[in-house]
Amino acid sequence: MTLTVVPTPTSIVAPQLEITGGRRLSGEVRVSGAKNSALVLMAACLLSRDTLRLTNVPPLTDIAGMGEILTALGVRVRRGQDWVELDASHLSQSTPPYELVNSLRASFFCIGPLLARLGMAKVPLPGGCKIGSRPVIEHVKGLKTLGAQVSIEHGVVSAAVPGRSQRLTGGRIHLECPSVGATETLMMAAALADGETVIENAALEPEVVDLAGLLNAMGGRVLGAGTPTIVIDGVERMHGADYAVIPDRIEAGTFLLAAAITRSALRVTPVIPEHLGAVLTKLVDAGCELIPDGEGMTLRASHIQAVDLRTQPFPGFPTDLQAPFMSVLATAQGTSMVVENIFENRLQHVAELQRMGADIRMQGNTALVEGVARLSGAPVQGTDLRASAAMVLAGLAADGITTVQGLEFLDRGYADFEGKLNAVGASIRRLEP
Ligand code: EPZ
Repeated sequence: MTLTVVPTPTSIVAPQLEITGGRRLSGEVRVSGAKNSALVLMAACLLSRDTLRLTNVPPLTDIAGMGEILTALGVRVRRGQDWVELDASHLSQSTPPYELVNSLRASFFCIGPLLARLGMAKVPLPGGCKIGSRPVIEHVKGLKTLGAQVSIEHGVVSAAVPGRSQRLTGGRIHLECPSVGATETLMMAAALADGETVIENAALEPEVVDLAGLLNAMGGRVLGAGTPTIVIDGVERMHGADYAVIPDRIEAGTFLLAAAITRSALRVTPVIPEHLGAVLTKLVDAGCELIPDGEGMTLRASHIQAVDLRTQPFPGFPTDLQAPFMSVLATAQGTSMVVENIFENRLQHVAELQRMGADIRMQGNTALVEGVARLSGAPVQGTDLRASAAMVLAGLAADGITTVQGLEFLDRGYADFEGKLNAVGASIRRLEP
């Protein structure tokens, strides 16, 4: 006789989601605005004295954090459920406070527009995070090409434009790697520079194209966003704008994967297919039926086949959906090879999936996933924003109860994640200590 010791849940020590697995989903899930666009668009308000109004802004902790950082710089911030108004007419300083920057890496987006607007900026170096060291070498090299003097001391990046004009000068920048953040930082710095800037080997992500759309709406002159070469013709001044953030392609992909892992039929809307090309191809290869309907997309899944994934810069398979897709592959028929090429430490969810009975073998940045018939519910930990979502998906399909800790990560990138899933048939409770 085998004695199975099941730990009885003691008092809740950290916020967690309790998921009862095995339920089918049905209906429609609404996708919020893109976190990774809204954050950089908010920083662009620093480029103008006029008010910038952004709509379709997701209600996330990261958005609130960026609002606090901009407020500390002197921006007047007003927020509603899905909109934000930013008045940067009177900036009080050019140094966001360390304690705020340290909690939100995206605050580094302020350095480019602060330099462009004020001719100086002091921004704490964004730390690494669990998925990697997250260097900003390309950002710094590009700012120097545009005429800034940049030094890094005691963890602070200090940048200033020498000379009386204190205005950056356009230049030709070649990025060593197509960094999303570096591309966006340098687009904003170049927007007010004197002359033309060319960014070669630029990132192609939809969020980069969204930023170019905003800069042009504010009176900037940006051409070529979405191609490897972006040309920015600097202007003297930029004005305010009223601009809608694109839908969050990563959130949309996460919900399509929730339908796949529960073998459900679910409509996700809005979805811009061009923003998810590589993911949609892999979902079809895995046996899903996808029905686009102009604004949204329905996914139907009954059997899931193994597929291989290799994360790449856009338009390749996005690193942000690698963990959620791996949860699906853990229940697929056959063996999948998943290679994480973007971040050096973004496979920490493997150990958590193994706790749920997943059969995964690791070798460096490669995971070999042997699909199993059923995962089993267990207490697991989300180790970063997307890994937390991946564990919730695994819980949806597992036998029994799964508890997921790491909600401080989840809430940064997914607005009301459990509420949206419960509305289409999931059974998830948020337990607070
Ligand atoms: C953005 O991060 C996103 N964040 C990330 O989303 C996303 O995973 C990433 O782009 C890749 O798509 C935001 O937009 C706020 P990178 P970013 O600079 O700009 C290396 C999420 O879960 N690199 O394109 O920091 C770097 O080490 C987050 O929503 C250099 O080597 O990404 C990494 O390996 C996570 N040198 C790769 O490039 C540099 O100077 C991609 O980084 C800069 C980057």
